[in-house]
Amino acid sequence: MEFPPGHAVSEGSELHPLRQQTIFDNGWHYSAYAEPPVNCVIRLSVDVTLFDETTLNELSLDNRVGLAPMTRVSATDDGRATAEMAQYYQRFAEGGFSFLITEGTYPDDAYSQGYLNQPGLVTDTQAAAWEQVTEAVHDAGVPIFAQLMHAGAQSQGNPHVDGDQTIAPSAVQPEGQKAEAYGGSGEFPTPKAATVDELAEISDSFVNSAENAIDAGFDGIEIHGANGYLLHEFLSAEFNQRDDEYGGKPANRVRYPREVVAAIDEATPADFVVGIRVSQSTALDETHRWPEGEDAAAVFFDELSAAGADYIHVTEPDATTPAFGDDGPTLAEAAAKYADDETVVIDNGGLGTPDAAREKVDAGADLVTLARSALANPDWPDKVEAGEELTAFDPAEFLAPSASLSEHEVPTDGASADD
Ligand SMILES: Cc1cc2nc3c(=O)[nH]c(=O)nc-3n(C[C@H](O)[C@H](O)[C@H](O)COP(=O)(O)O)c2cc1C
Repeated sequence: MEFPPGHAVSEGSELHPLRQQTIFDNGWHYSAYAEPPVNCVIRLSVDVTLFDETTLNELSLDNRVGLAPMTRVSATDDGRATAEMAQYYQRFAEGGFSFLITEGTYPDDAYSQGYLNQPGLVTDTQAAAWEQVTEAVHDAGVPIFAQLMHAGAQSQGNPHVDGDQTIAPSAVQPEGQKAEAYGGSGEFPTPKAATVDELAEISDSFVNSAENAIDAGFDGIEIHGANGYLLHEFLSAEFNQRDDEYGGKPANRVRYPREVVAAIDEATPADFVVGIRVSQSTALDETHRWPEGEDAAAVFFDELSAAGADYIHVTEPDATTPAFGDDGPTLAEAAAKYADDETVVIDNGGLGTPDAAREKVDAGADLVTLARSALANPDWPDKVEAGEELTAFDPAEFLAPSASLSEHEVPTDGASADD
């Protein structure tokens, strides 16, 4: 069988289509992260698309495959990154990923923290602790972005508040249970609706965290506007029931995320990358959609890129399927269509086989990111480029009974970044 130059041939076992319908059923519960076996052999060693060099803002990237953000609840109790986290991130940089995005990192000491042992970027001490991570990754010649995440109504562990208090656009309780692998249990509380003054404080905290990210040596930040957390809740017609200028039609629902993007963009140097992650589905409900469909996407992507986003990172359980019904564009295609031409589009979700990742790049995504397949293969790009077999992701190896870093990922006898 003939294949176009640079296109891989898989053989050796069946390549299963990714079956991801349960991924988001139970938050980031490990059992929801079973991935079908990936057991393919890539024969051609050079891939002309995935392994093209490219640029993002002023950064040169060795290829088009980055690490997706993954919460691993392994920071200290007071939100400091650790030497083990530096070791963990360095493996992906050394394994050929051309850029890394960190786990969601909380930006304030009020309502933003989502998980116990989540890292923060609120204080100078937390920023200083991240330096060992950024240095370890830079030693491998790879840029790293901090994902700034306000957990909104989906917070499930926050020592900064008394009891179980959360904040969101409106007092709408998320359905579903907290994930035990991430230290939570039971139902989510009904959040309080944020006042306009509180929104201004949260926006200031995002800016402060972005400035701390610069001090920590990060090359950029990613604003978490996906998966049902605070900024996504603003985009949602279900979680955003506001009757002020931040609620109602799509142009109002995107107003607050747009303000956060603009505030960070204004406060940071031009070469500092500012991205935003966007999804329709939430961590608790993969069927969650914008009722206006593509019309909402048109407004959201246009406004977010106009506000100064250097990239838009879309994620869906299955990035290959139409986003707004049985046919029509995927979310990445919609982002490319409605964002400014210079805004980079990053695609994510179920792209862990080389064929799936390559198809997205061929279809116009500037970059792709991998999460579960990267855990199983921290050297995914190097392996694929060399034609080596990929390891299947087994959630039990990484996320059970706790999602925190496992001994096999960060061996204690291995050299850590600050040894
Ligand atoms: C262990 C784990 C933790 C995650 N934590 C985050 C997170 O902190 N922020 C985020 O935006 N997405 C998070 N995600 C979602 C991933 O970034 C990604 O969107 C999802 O796993 C689909 O990509 P994949 O098919 O390559 O795994 C997490 C996923 C996993 C598996």
